Amino acid sequence: MAQAVKLAQNVQAYRLVEKFGIDHLVVSESKPEPIGHGQVRVKMHAASLNYRDLMIVRGEYNPNLRQPTGLVPLSDGAGEVVELGEGVTRFKVGDRVAGLFFQSWLAGECDEQKSKSALAGSIDGVLTTYKVFHEDGLISLPAHLSYEEGATLPCAAVTAWNALIFSGGLRAGETVLTQGTGGVSIFALQFSKITGARVIVISSSDEKLARAEKLGANDLINYKKNPNWEIKVKELTRGRGVDHIVELGGASTLTKSLQAIRLGGQISLIGVLSGKSGEINPVPILMKNVCVQGIYVGSREMFEGMNAAISLHKLHPVIDRVFPFAEAKQAFSYMESSSHLGKIVIKIA
Ligand SMILES: NC(=O)c1ccc[n+]([C@@H]2O[C@H](COP(=O)([O-])OP(=O)(O)OC[C@H]3O[C@@H](n4cnc5c(N)ncnc54)[C@H](OP(=O)(O)O)[C@@H]3O)[C@@H](O)[C@H]2O)c1
Repeated sequence: MAQAVKLAQNVQAYRLVEKFGIDHLVVSESKPEPIGHGQVRVKMHAASLNYRDLMIVRGEYNPNLRQPTGLVPLSDGAGEVVELGEGVTRFKVGDRVAGLFFQSWLAGECDEQKSKSALAGSIDGVLTTYKVFHEDGLISLPAHLSYEEGATLPCAAVTAWNALIFSGGLRAGETVLTQGTGGVSIFALQFSKITGARVIVISSSDEKLARAEKLGANDLINYKKNPNWEIKVKELTRGRGVDHIVELGGASTLTKSLQAIRLGGQISLIGVLSGKSGEINPVPILMKNVCVQGIYVGSREMFEGMNAAISLHKLHPVIDRVFPFAEAKQAFSYMESSSHLGKIVIKIA
């Protein structure tokens, strides 16, 4: 028998309609959708923004898309299970959960079908008061985290975990360089610290670097004041270079990263904040035996491993600012201003 909590009120969700741009996010209201076999209805309590969400809203993410499709934005959210469909075994009413970024990537390698299951990509995202998920697309929240904190995990945290720990095999005593002080970078800093690694953070702002230092960063470089930051990184590592780089800048930082990495080091290619095209000399990759690893978020298996570590270390995600549901557009504008350090969250319930 399905366990049902009758939903009296309509569902409210932001949708991107008519044109691209933050101003074209509108709140729509609809009847609650029916719940099917293996599905779970979640009352969403919080959602968080990733740079990808801004690109989607601006129409920059998928260049083939000429017009928005009315999709609900944001991939990352957390909430409370309020209704179970027939056959659900993984959750009960009242459980605190987050959605997986890739709803179908549970374990193993990613494939074509799993890569098409990203929330707020080809399927509706989580900036909504209620959402129906398949139970496989949900994960339990670490008990010590609030809904706001839990909502920061599915994309940025899993990406940093996959880059450094799951695929990167980071070890105590190694040195990590992470670029900027946004969501992915601050999780990379936190995961490096619990592993016992040294962390070099580069940022455009001295004020943000001071905050990164309080979070445990060992060495700080302002990349605006030191555009040749790769030389400073070599100095800091006595000419050796760093073991891992969390590469978020893309076109204009990759060449510098290839200078800053040690022989046999790993560059996790994650972001393209500074652009998608540019000239890259591939020679240092082979001459230095560098492993350049593309990272695209991660699986539920990785998320589970990460949550175990977060629970063990009682780690709290770094939230810069929380906006109410009614001010979701301001949250996007705030991300656009690049003023944040860590995560921007929208409180829904
Ligand atoms: N491949 C994946 O699976 C995956 C997953 C998540 C994110 N991403 C990508 O990773 C990037 C970061 O995402 P996010 O959500 O963490 O973004 P975010 O929170 O908006 O962080 C952006 C920050 O990056 C820094 N930055 C900007 N341009 C830079 C540059 N040229 N060099 C170094 N740092 C720079 C700035 O920090 P400072 O002000 O401190 O300089 C900026 O505030 C984006 O390109 C995003 O699309 C990819």
